[in-house]
Amino acid sequence: SWTISSFVDDKIKEIKERIGDKRAICALSGGVDSSVAAVLVHRAIGDNLTCIFVDHGLLRLNEAEEVYRTFKEKFNMNLIMVNAKDRFLERLKGVSDPERKRKIIGEEFIRVFEEEANKIKGAEFLVQGTIYPDVVESGTKTSATIKSHHNVGGLPEDLKFELVEPLRELFKDEVREVGRQLGIPEDLISRQPFPGPGLAIRVLGEVTEDKLNILRQADFIFREEIKKAGLHRDIWQYFAVLPDIKSVGVMGDERTYAYTIALRAVESVDGMTSDWFRIPYEVLARVSSRIVNEVKGVNRVVYDITSKPPATIEWE
Ligand code: XMP
Repeated sequence: SWTISSFVDDKIKEIKERIGDKRAICALSGGVDSSVAAVLVHRAIGDNLTCIFVDHGLLRLNEAEEVYRTFKEKFNMNLIMVNAKDRFLERLKGVSDPERKRKIIGEEFIRVFEEEANKIKGAEFLVQGTIYPDVVESGTKTSATIKSHHNVGGLPEDLKFELVEPLRELFKDEVREVGRQLGIPEDLISRQPFPGPGLAIRVLGEVTEDKLNILRQADFIFREEIKKAGLHRDIWQYFAVLPDIKSVGVMGDERTYAYTIALRAVESVDGMTSDWFRIPYEVLARVSSRIVNEVKGVNRVVYDITSKPPATIEWE
């Protein structure tokens, strides 16, 4: 019968036979799928796999460091961290349309990845974390007109590599099981979904370094308090948004004029529909008071109580 551990053993064997002592590369995003695919292939071919992590500067607080710690320090994998923050910010300057932002980030990601991939001599294979629902979805493309859902793992097919997609037959839950079997930390395995364009679609309107920093701090506080309250496994997705709104407040005797932070937390089965999560008032109160006290530039916090439809999970 089919078991996770026999799947792992068979796949490793299959990958070994296919790649032999040739070289492979992988675009690691820090998400579950690309992580599991990379560790699986690493088990099969070791140092002949090079992973490339593109830091587009639109990640959450400490995210790049966590990827480094997990894959470089824990798994001892060949990992190239590319700091491409300035390039992405430069290209996003003056752009406020959500779909334009997605398109720019998608294009720039491919450019950066190709440049790095070309530096790796003799690589013939490209590892991708495609899972079964991706295979099905790309056949139908139902929601493509609402948001282009650019995913930074998705590379153009005309790259000069042979694709290795060891998770193609698996559903998400099975991918997670494989990841656990491979010793990937639980925090990464049960991580909430995070969009490819990252914080660029949570900073509404034009993206600037300043706004990103504010959002990063607020988002970190929100995630920390949700975890402390033990709710992190119950909520499908929870994050902060920075709408392009400034409003009046008061601090001591002083008038303030500063940003609003919106909190979004939803329950969902597949991301297609969702309801807002009933976070206990005490938790919301703590998050709100910490954000206005600890994040400079924010004087107001609101909670999004809209379901999908008619809203979407992300604000852009
Ligand atoms: P929406 O906002 O459409 O989001 O209700 C549904 C799910 O998709 C994620 N999402 C994205 N993921 N690239 C991605 O990889 C994107 O451009 C993108 N836009 C939304 C969103 O976080 C939610 O899980």
